[in-house]
Amino acid sequence: MRRNLQLLATALPLAAAWPMVMEEVAKGRTLQKRVVYPTVPPPKFTTQRDNCGVHGPCTTFDADDQFVDVSQGSGHEFVSPGPSDIRGQCPGLNAAANHAFMPRNGLATIQQTVDGLEAAYNMSPDLSAILAVISIAISGDPIAGKWSIGGGFNGVLGLLGRPTGIIGTHNRYEGDASIVRGDAYLHDGDVDFFEMHRWEHLYSMLGDEDNFTHDKAAAQAYYTMRYSVLNNPYYFSEPFSGLVAPDAHNFVVSFMSNHSAEIPGGKLDGETLKQFFSVTGTPGNFVWTPGQERIPLNWYRRPSGQQMNTVDTNVDTLINNGMYPGIVQFGGNTGKVDTFTGIDTGDLTQGVFNGATLLEGNNLACFFLQATQAGLVDAATPLLEPVGEILSFLNQNIAPQVSALNCPQLNSLNNTLFKQYPGASYFPSGQ
Ligand code: HEM
Ligand SMILES: *[C@@H]1O[C@H](CO)[C@@H](O)[C@H](O)[C@H]1NC(C)=O
Ligand SMILES: *[C@@H]1O[C@H](CO)[C@@H](O)[C@H](O)[C@H]1NC(C)=O
Ligand SMILES: *[C@@H]1O[C@H](CO)[C@@H](O)[C@H](O)[C@H]1NC(C)=O
Repeated sequence: MRRNLQLLATALPLAAAWPMVMEEVAKGRTLQKRVVYPTVPPPKFTTQRDNCGVHGPCTTFDADDQFVDVSQGSGHEFVSPGPSDIRGQCPGLNAAANHAFMPRNGLATIQQTVDGLEAAYNMSPDLSAILAVISIAISGDPIAGKWSIGGGFNGVLGLLGRPTGIIGTHNRYEGDASIVRGDAYLHDGDVDFFEMHRWEHLYSMLGDEDNFTHDKAAAQAYYTMRYSVLNNPYYFSEPFSGLVAPDAHNFVVSFMSNHSAEIPGGKLDGETLKQFFSVTGTPGNFVWTPGQERIPLNWYRRPSGQQMNTVDTNVDTLINNGMYPGIVQFGGNTGKVDTFTGIDTGDLTQGVFNGATLLEGNNLACFFLQATQAGLVDAATPLLEPVGEILSFLNQNIAPQVSALNCPQLNSLNNTLFKQYPGASYFPSGQ
């Protein structure tokens, strides 16, 4: 991690006034760089969603079911990661590992992922299993059935390469326009760089109610997307990772809110947000400390009867995109800032999903699942040979959800369409 840049970023008076254009001593490759902070327009509409999202409203509260005991002696008390424990760019996973809901060393099986994320957050097993399966297929060890929530690890004998962990998945899992992390290209390949202006923007939306909501997450997603378009000549939104980044915005609200008898739909205040994101301080003086993500004491997850699943997260993202069109878009800048050019999803999918049908019914969830399957042949790094084995692992594990959703048949993605985007072939060193 590049702490010197982190310090530089924190020192900048970012909270002072945006929108604005300011000079910044830029990161390594160029001497000076103009940074443009976007403005967020009014939404096309607002929603009545509570913090459970489309799977809400959550109208019941059961303390026994929802209390997540992280007190001393619970077995789930906070412990800082040790030197050999792996942590990465996902605050939800880091917090789960810091509280032993996931193995503290940061390496997990599918079953450990499913059990741990259900216990900690009430993530539905179908969603956690798929996310773990994808992690294994593109960055883990399909033979041992393990994956890393951060950097690389040694796989079992028989695997030809060294699994990269989810840190090493730029444009495949990790993407640009994340809720607080900066784009890899703007940070010399670092996918874990905490960009303070994103956090300041997010935090400023809490307002007098001191609460973060789905509608506010939608505004943040628009802000982060526009920031990438305006500042990153290599901005690229790949068909699968381009959905993960917007989905992760709504994960914050759906999984980190505190539920109670008074507010069964959940409330996400600044203190809770800071603990989950490993941030201390106040606006203008925030400090991010890597790897110390916590589940707060006295915190209650969403109800077990209303877990969030694969379809829900994509429907929330669709609603967000309706509020602020452009949150879901595939394509990128063509080598200069503010040159966004979209890929026609009809061309990309040989007509299976066009721009209109993609946004209907379960189609976005289908696309989310199928794009990984179809994209893997090209995306799989040669390191993780044999590709055939990985593909069949992925197909076995994803196909049942695809058929349960009655998804249309998608056989392949026309990857030649990505050629015009320099960001599509940008691989941070070591990936
Ligand atoms: C097996 C389960 C999970 C996997 C494999 C996973 C993986 C990832 C990956 C690859 C990213 C990077 C995406 C990007 O570039 O924006 C990410 C980001 C993120 N994830 Fe997770 N995640 C999982 C579960 C969760 C849970 C349960 C939560 C919430 C409690 C969560 C919250 C987030 C957030 C907020 C980000 C954005 C981070 C940032 O920009 O700072 N994730 N996750
Ligand atoms: C959160 O804030 C919104 C306004 O931004 C308000 O409508 C809602 O009632 C608040 N919810 C909670 C739980 O405080
Ligand atoms: C969650 O809400 C309950 C009830 O209002 C409160 O006692 C508890 O302190 C809250 N937890 C957090 C982490 O804010
Ligand atoms: C893929 O896209 C390219 C560029 O638009 C086009 O020339 C080619 O015919 C497409 N291939 C298929 C199989 O559709």
